[in-house]
Amino acid sequence: MKYSKFMEGFDEGIFEKLNNKKIELEKNGKKIYDLFVGTPDFKPEENILKEISNKALNPDLIKYSLQDIEPLKERFIKHYKDRFNVTLSKDEIMTVNGTQDGMCHVGMLFADPGDYCLLPNPGYVAFEACAKFARCKIEYYPLLEENDFMPRLDLIDPEILKKTKFVIISYPSNPTGGVITKERYEEIIDLAIKYDFVIINDNAYSDIVFDDFKSFSFLSLPNAKKVGCEFYSLSKSYNTTGSRISFFLGDKEVIEQFKKLRSQYDFGMYYPIQYGAIEAMNVSPLIIEKQRKEYEERRNVFCDGMKKIGFDVKVSKGTMFVFVKIPNKYKDSISFSTDLLEKTGVLCTPGIAFGSLGDRYVRFALVKPKEELLNIIEIIKNSNII
Ligand SMILES: Cc1ncc(COP(=O)(O)O)c(C=O)c1O
Repeated sequence: MKYSKFMEGFDEGIFEKLNNKKIELEKNGKKIYDLFVGTPDFKPEENILKEISNKALNPDLIKYSLQDIEPLKERFIKHYKDRFNVTLSKDEIMTVNGTQDGMCHVGMLFADPGDYCLLPNPGYVAFEACAKFARCKIEYYPLLEENDFMPRLDLIDPEILKKTKFVIISYPSNPTGGVITKERYEEIIDLAIKYDFVIINDNAYSDIVFDDFKSFSFLSLPNAKKVGCEFYSLSKSYNTTGSRISFFLGDKEVIEQFKKLRSQYDFGMYYPIQYGAIEAMNVSPLIIEKQRKEYEERRNVFCDGMKKIGFDVKVSKGTMFVFVKIPNKYKDSISFSTDLLEKTGVLCTPGIAFGSLGDRYVRFALVKPKEELLNIIEIIKNSNII
């Protein structure tokens, strides 16, 4: 068969290649320490699991749902008010099958082929897929360590800004672990007003922030709803990555447009997941706080340990990731991560997977208990890789 030019824009990716390498090494009896993908090792709360499984036994709830159920919308509105002091109405929210699904399609609302979008470099891989699905041109904005991994969109050529239809922003940031200040965000909103582009904010890690940083919703900022929209995933806060649900938020018109697009290829969220999401938002904030602290302790143990054995580590302010500089003697992030895997069995993600500016870094996911992280650091130390 002959495939489209569009498909040539995607390859199997570094994730797939490294995963295959991992499987091969495991087959040969090598112990693998997997800090590769951001799948939380914490368990979801039992009320979520019980609700999904109870509802799954009801034959009426396996039908096309077509719409989000009223109790879910009501519970979400309360959640966003309590959590971020953002007031939303029922026609300003809709579900998608995870942010990744929503993100891949949302660019089509705003851009036509040949228009520009602005994406972070380094950034989460689905952002690039969003641009590719919308068939628009990409201008990357650098996230540099010396700027605390915050964007400087004001440095982008005004001629490009004039042709820009949307920008994707996401903090706390995967893979850098950086956060953004409200002031910096307000500058981006001003720029969006000036150049008439849309801000798509991805709020995936608001419950995993460290030290004294207080996370916020982009929609809580002045004028945000006029120029932007937001994804809010339940995946990481509630450890429900497989029961795919995320919320897309914005003004009524954006929601109507996205519903129109989605109705072409989707018949609505599986009811048991919708009910499970209500239960997720009923989980006590104390439990979420306990988990946040646990991530913070892991971050401390990992960053301190890696620094002690000689790595240059930018201490994460949020997310479940740590971005670590590779030793100078390595030519790039793939050669380092491959060597690390072969010598120690420790699997991390080469920074190049997130963009060219990630190539002097690798990303470690904090998805193991502290004791295991300490053990992993000891193994790295003894390998003399540094
Ligand atoms: C920045 C960012 N957004 C979204 C997601 C995925 O969210 P979901 O599980 O809702 O698709 C991830 C997952 O790693 C992520 O890092």
